[in-house]
Amino acid sequence: MSVARIYVAGHRGMVGSAIVRQLLAQGIDQSQIVTRTHAELDLTNQLAVQLFFAQEKPTQVYMAAAKVGGIHANNTYPADFIYENLTVQVNVIDAAFKNGVKKLLFLGSSCIYPRMAHQPMREDALLTGTLEPTNEPYAIAKIAGIKLCESYNRQYVQSHGVDYRSVMPTNLYGPGDNYHPENSHVIPALIRRFHEAKVANAPSVAIWGTGTPRREFLYVDDMAAASVHVMQLPKAVYDQHTSPMQSHINVGSGADVTIAEVAQAIAKAVGFKGQIEFDATKPDGAPRKWMDSSRMNALGWQAKVGLYQGLAVAYQNFLATLIL
Ligand SMILES: NC(=O)c1ccc[n+]([C@@H]2O[C@H](COP(=O)([O-])OP(=O)(O)OC[C@H]3O[C@@H](n4cnc5c(N)ncnc54)[C@H](OP(=O)(O)O)[C@@H]3O)[C@@H](O)[C@H]2O)c1
Repeated sequence: MSVARIYVAGHRGMVGSAIVRQLLAQGIDQSQIVTRTHAELDLTNQLAVQLFFAQEKPTQVYMAAAKVGGIHANNTYPADFIYENLTVQVNVIDAAFKNGVKKLLFLGSSCIYPRMAHQPMREDALLTGTLEPTNEPYAIAKIAGIKLCESYNRQYVQSHGVDYRSVMPTNLYGPGDNYHPENSHVIPALIRRFHEAKVANAPSVAIWGTGTPRREFLYVDDMAAASVHVMQLPKAVYDQHTSPMQSHINVGSGADVTIAEVAQAIAKAVGFKGQIEFDATKPDGAPRKWMDSSRMNALGWQAKVGLYQGLAVAYQNFLATLIL
């Protein structure tokens, strides 16, 4: 059997770098892993992407490159979010197909589900209702990514053996996260705020909302393990747990926590000893966002890293970014 050549798109990002760590930990040789930085290969450039695939001839692709951001960034740059994500996906998936790639894993997001989806959100909630308006352009691009994979599978499985799969992660955190003060997700944003409050000896940190909404978080190395697990499943097993027009698989930790609980856990990991105050005059967002990961669990994967354990590593990673 020929040796796999594995292209990890977005290998410098939080998820892409964790996938590379996971592949190396499994004994895959570094020489089998193909990477390009954004500066070396802009995935919105169709011609450059086709040339790259034609030259490098990868046999597997992990699609972890995307334009990613929090509510503020999604609201401010909706055109960038829909255009860049659609273009990157179309370019990579089509170039993969045209250059004989049979195995590809697309990474989506839990925001593909309707804002009022029944909790926990099952895979069959897709396209059953209206999306959350703040990140609708991003979510539409992600839904298109799933449907691209499914459509190539349906049209080309017999003739070309195409087998393109999709995973939908819950909120992720861990090494490689984006700690930008405005454009980051809740865990990295709170790590920064609690750290800065600790350094400044501030008596308290104020958090938007009541602290009662529930959210699910998954450590990024668990997500990477899940990604490689799904990619390596025999086709008959994947097919048995999915259907041709509903082929995506949720990946979550299985447990959700309140914002107050996650804030307390972060304060503990950071060593902030002051008060945590909740500003109930500010909006809360959806009361609960929780994925049903039973399909993934039935396929033999479970999250391993607990929230406190993961936050401790994430805080060390944040500290390392300060001295870079
Ligand atoms: N983070 C989460 O909580 C979360 C949750 C659910 C799903 N996901 C999904 O997981 C995937 C990876 O997310 P992440 O958190 O790892 O994001 P990330 O840290 O921002 O990494 C994304 C990577 O993609 C690269 N990239 C973006 N546009 C590119 C382009 N046009 N050409 C080449 N490279 C490009 C980025 O390079 P530059 O930085 O140089 O632009 C970056 O290295 C995404 O599909 C995301 O939707 C993430």
